[in-house]
Amino acid sequence: MNLRLSLFWLFSALVVTDSTAQQTVKESTGVYQFLTDDPNQKPFYNDRKGVAAKNGLVASAHPAASEVGMEILRAGGNAIDAAVAVQFALAVVHPSAGNIGGGGFLVLRTSEGKSISIDFREKAPAKAHADMYLDKDGQVIPKLSILGRLASGVPGSVAGMAEAHAKYGKLPWKQVLQPAIDLANNGVVQTAKEANGLNIIKKKILELNPGTSYFQKASGEAWKEGDLLIQKDLAKVLQRVQKKGSAGFYKGKVAKMLVKEMNRMDKGIITKKDLSGYQVAWREPVIDTYKDYQVISMAPPSSGGIALVQLLKLVEPYPLKRWGWHSDSTIQVMIEAERRVYADRAKFLGDPDFVNIPTKTLTDKEYLAQRWKDFTFSKATDSKDVDGGSIPGYESMETTHFSVVDKDRNAVSVTTTLNGGYGSMVVVKGGGFLMNNEMDDFSLKPGVPNMFGLIGNKANAIAPGKRMLSSMTPTILEKNGKLFMVVGTPGGSTIITSVFQTVLNVIEHGMSMQQSVNALKFHHQWLPDLTLFEANAFSGKTITSLQQKGYQLEKLTNTLGRMDCILVGDDGWLEGGSDPRGDDTSIGY
Ligand code: GLY
Repeated sequence: MNLRLSLFWLFSALVVTDSTAQQTVKESTGVYQFLTDDPNQKPFYNDRKGVAAKNGLVASAHPAASEVGMEILRAGGNAIDAAVAVQFALAVVHPSAGNIGGGGFLVLRTSEGKSISIDFREKAPAKAHADMYLDKDGQVIPKLSILGRLASGVPGSVAGMAEAHAKYGKLPWKQVLQPAIDLANNGVVQTAKEANGLNIIKKKILELNPGTSYFQKASGEAWKEGDLLIQKDLAKVLQRVQKKGSAGFYKGKVAKMLVKEMNRMDKGIITKKDLSGYQVAWREPVIDTYKDYQVISMAPPSSGGIALVQLLKLVEPYPLKRWGWHSDSTIQVMIEAERRVYADRAKFLGDPDFVNIPTKTLTDKEYLAQRWKDFTFSKATDSKDVDGGSIPGYESMETTHFSVVDKDRNAVSVTTTLNGGYGSMVVVKGGGFLMNNEMDDFSLKPGVPNMFGLIGNKANAIAPGKRMLSSMTPTILEKNGKLFMVVGTPGGSTIITSVFQTVLNVIEHGMSMQQSVNALKFHHQWLPDLTLFEANAFSGKTITSLQQKGYQLEKLTNTLGRMDCILVGDDGWLEGGSDPRGDDTSIGY
């Protein structure tokens, strides 16, 4: 029989000065309970400490990108200026996900409390059609939506940044672009993880871009930590964007290069007209409440905001805090909420410019209460018995996230992506930038899972000019009308559940921002009917209890999430929580 030990992690606020930096390191704040069989087991991936800052803070996937954002804040820029600079810097220093050839979502809460969001998600090209990835027998052709030129949607990142900056930026556009140009020209020192990533994909890049030197080491050797990645062609593209704004990407020389690239080898379908016609969408964010908190998140075509609100409201009636972090009851309720929410995602969500989404109903308390009707604590619900809810009248790892807060408390939450790591692996010749493989986020055929195992339906079928459904969940929370938290992560379908857990870890379990990021995580997405968990995330007792109720559990050999988040303390100080699972870094001042 397992020995059950109750470990009570009791923390008091402790701020110690880090002698190597201008910052202080915030240790921890809360009280929570963790049940485990092993007295040495901890609830955290590791014990990294949060970064505390008084004025402003940038948390991103790469130290050089966070440094760029900080440089802009120190120069008098606001959170939007810093976010735009970080987005372009990530395209240089973190090419697996940072991008100009992809898209994403930006959520802004201004210092006056106004919330807005920008959808710069990719769009299906005009020549796209519902059956474009099916063979003559109607079967999905493997990899066609994942690798190569046909996998790309029309990129949105440059337009998204240009519009955000034009409306809310303070510093000149030229100034916010310059750090990325310098990084591309002077070279980026490779971290061990970035070097490893390049080694994994360099052969595939050569296959899809014969004879290319992009992302290859001149000597043909393997990349190693400390090597310099210089990207002169990318610097020139960024300079054109710096000079001409959006038109520097969507028109003229860069557009020509991109279309030429589409006409090579396996042939893509993005045209000059697709590029010049690309427009971002300013969307009303999803705004709802969880207890005393206001949740501001991304509306469709991301499923993130609706799903996060559904998850929080589904668990709200349950005493998670009393049950304790990762106790069997807490986990069970969270899994069952996730099962129902992902079933709704598959049935109802898509691009709101093309399908009618019943957002109000999906997030309505009565509707959500109905979704619990078949739940019992004695047994796992079978995903086969769960369909999207019934709504009368209704027919029918790689991404990257960064968070910025400035001295006035403007807050920006951005998640951006090429979809898979290094996207379609097609590099635009002459431009040196990678194209996305976002078309795989559409439902290629009803009921057939995409690369994240997500099932889709008619609502997310391909159509010309339509945006593919996303799971990206850039989110901002308010408490008592004041900025409280900025949160987000990459991770495909696991984004929503990682954000959900990170929010609950702080609000219910009293963790600091960094502890909440460090905390081990799990994921369920309705289908496949499986709960994935990071090693040590569940105690032996929890595992036994869940298995006895019929839950299928699978311990991951890799990790979940690369969170980059900011928490505002009661004292007004900021705490950056950046994920120790990656190169993620918070820098504040
Ligand atoms: N490409 C991942 C997502 O948008 O959810």
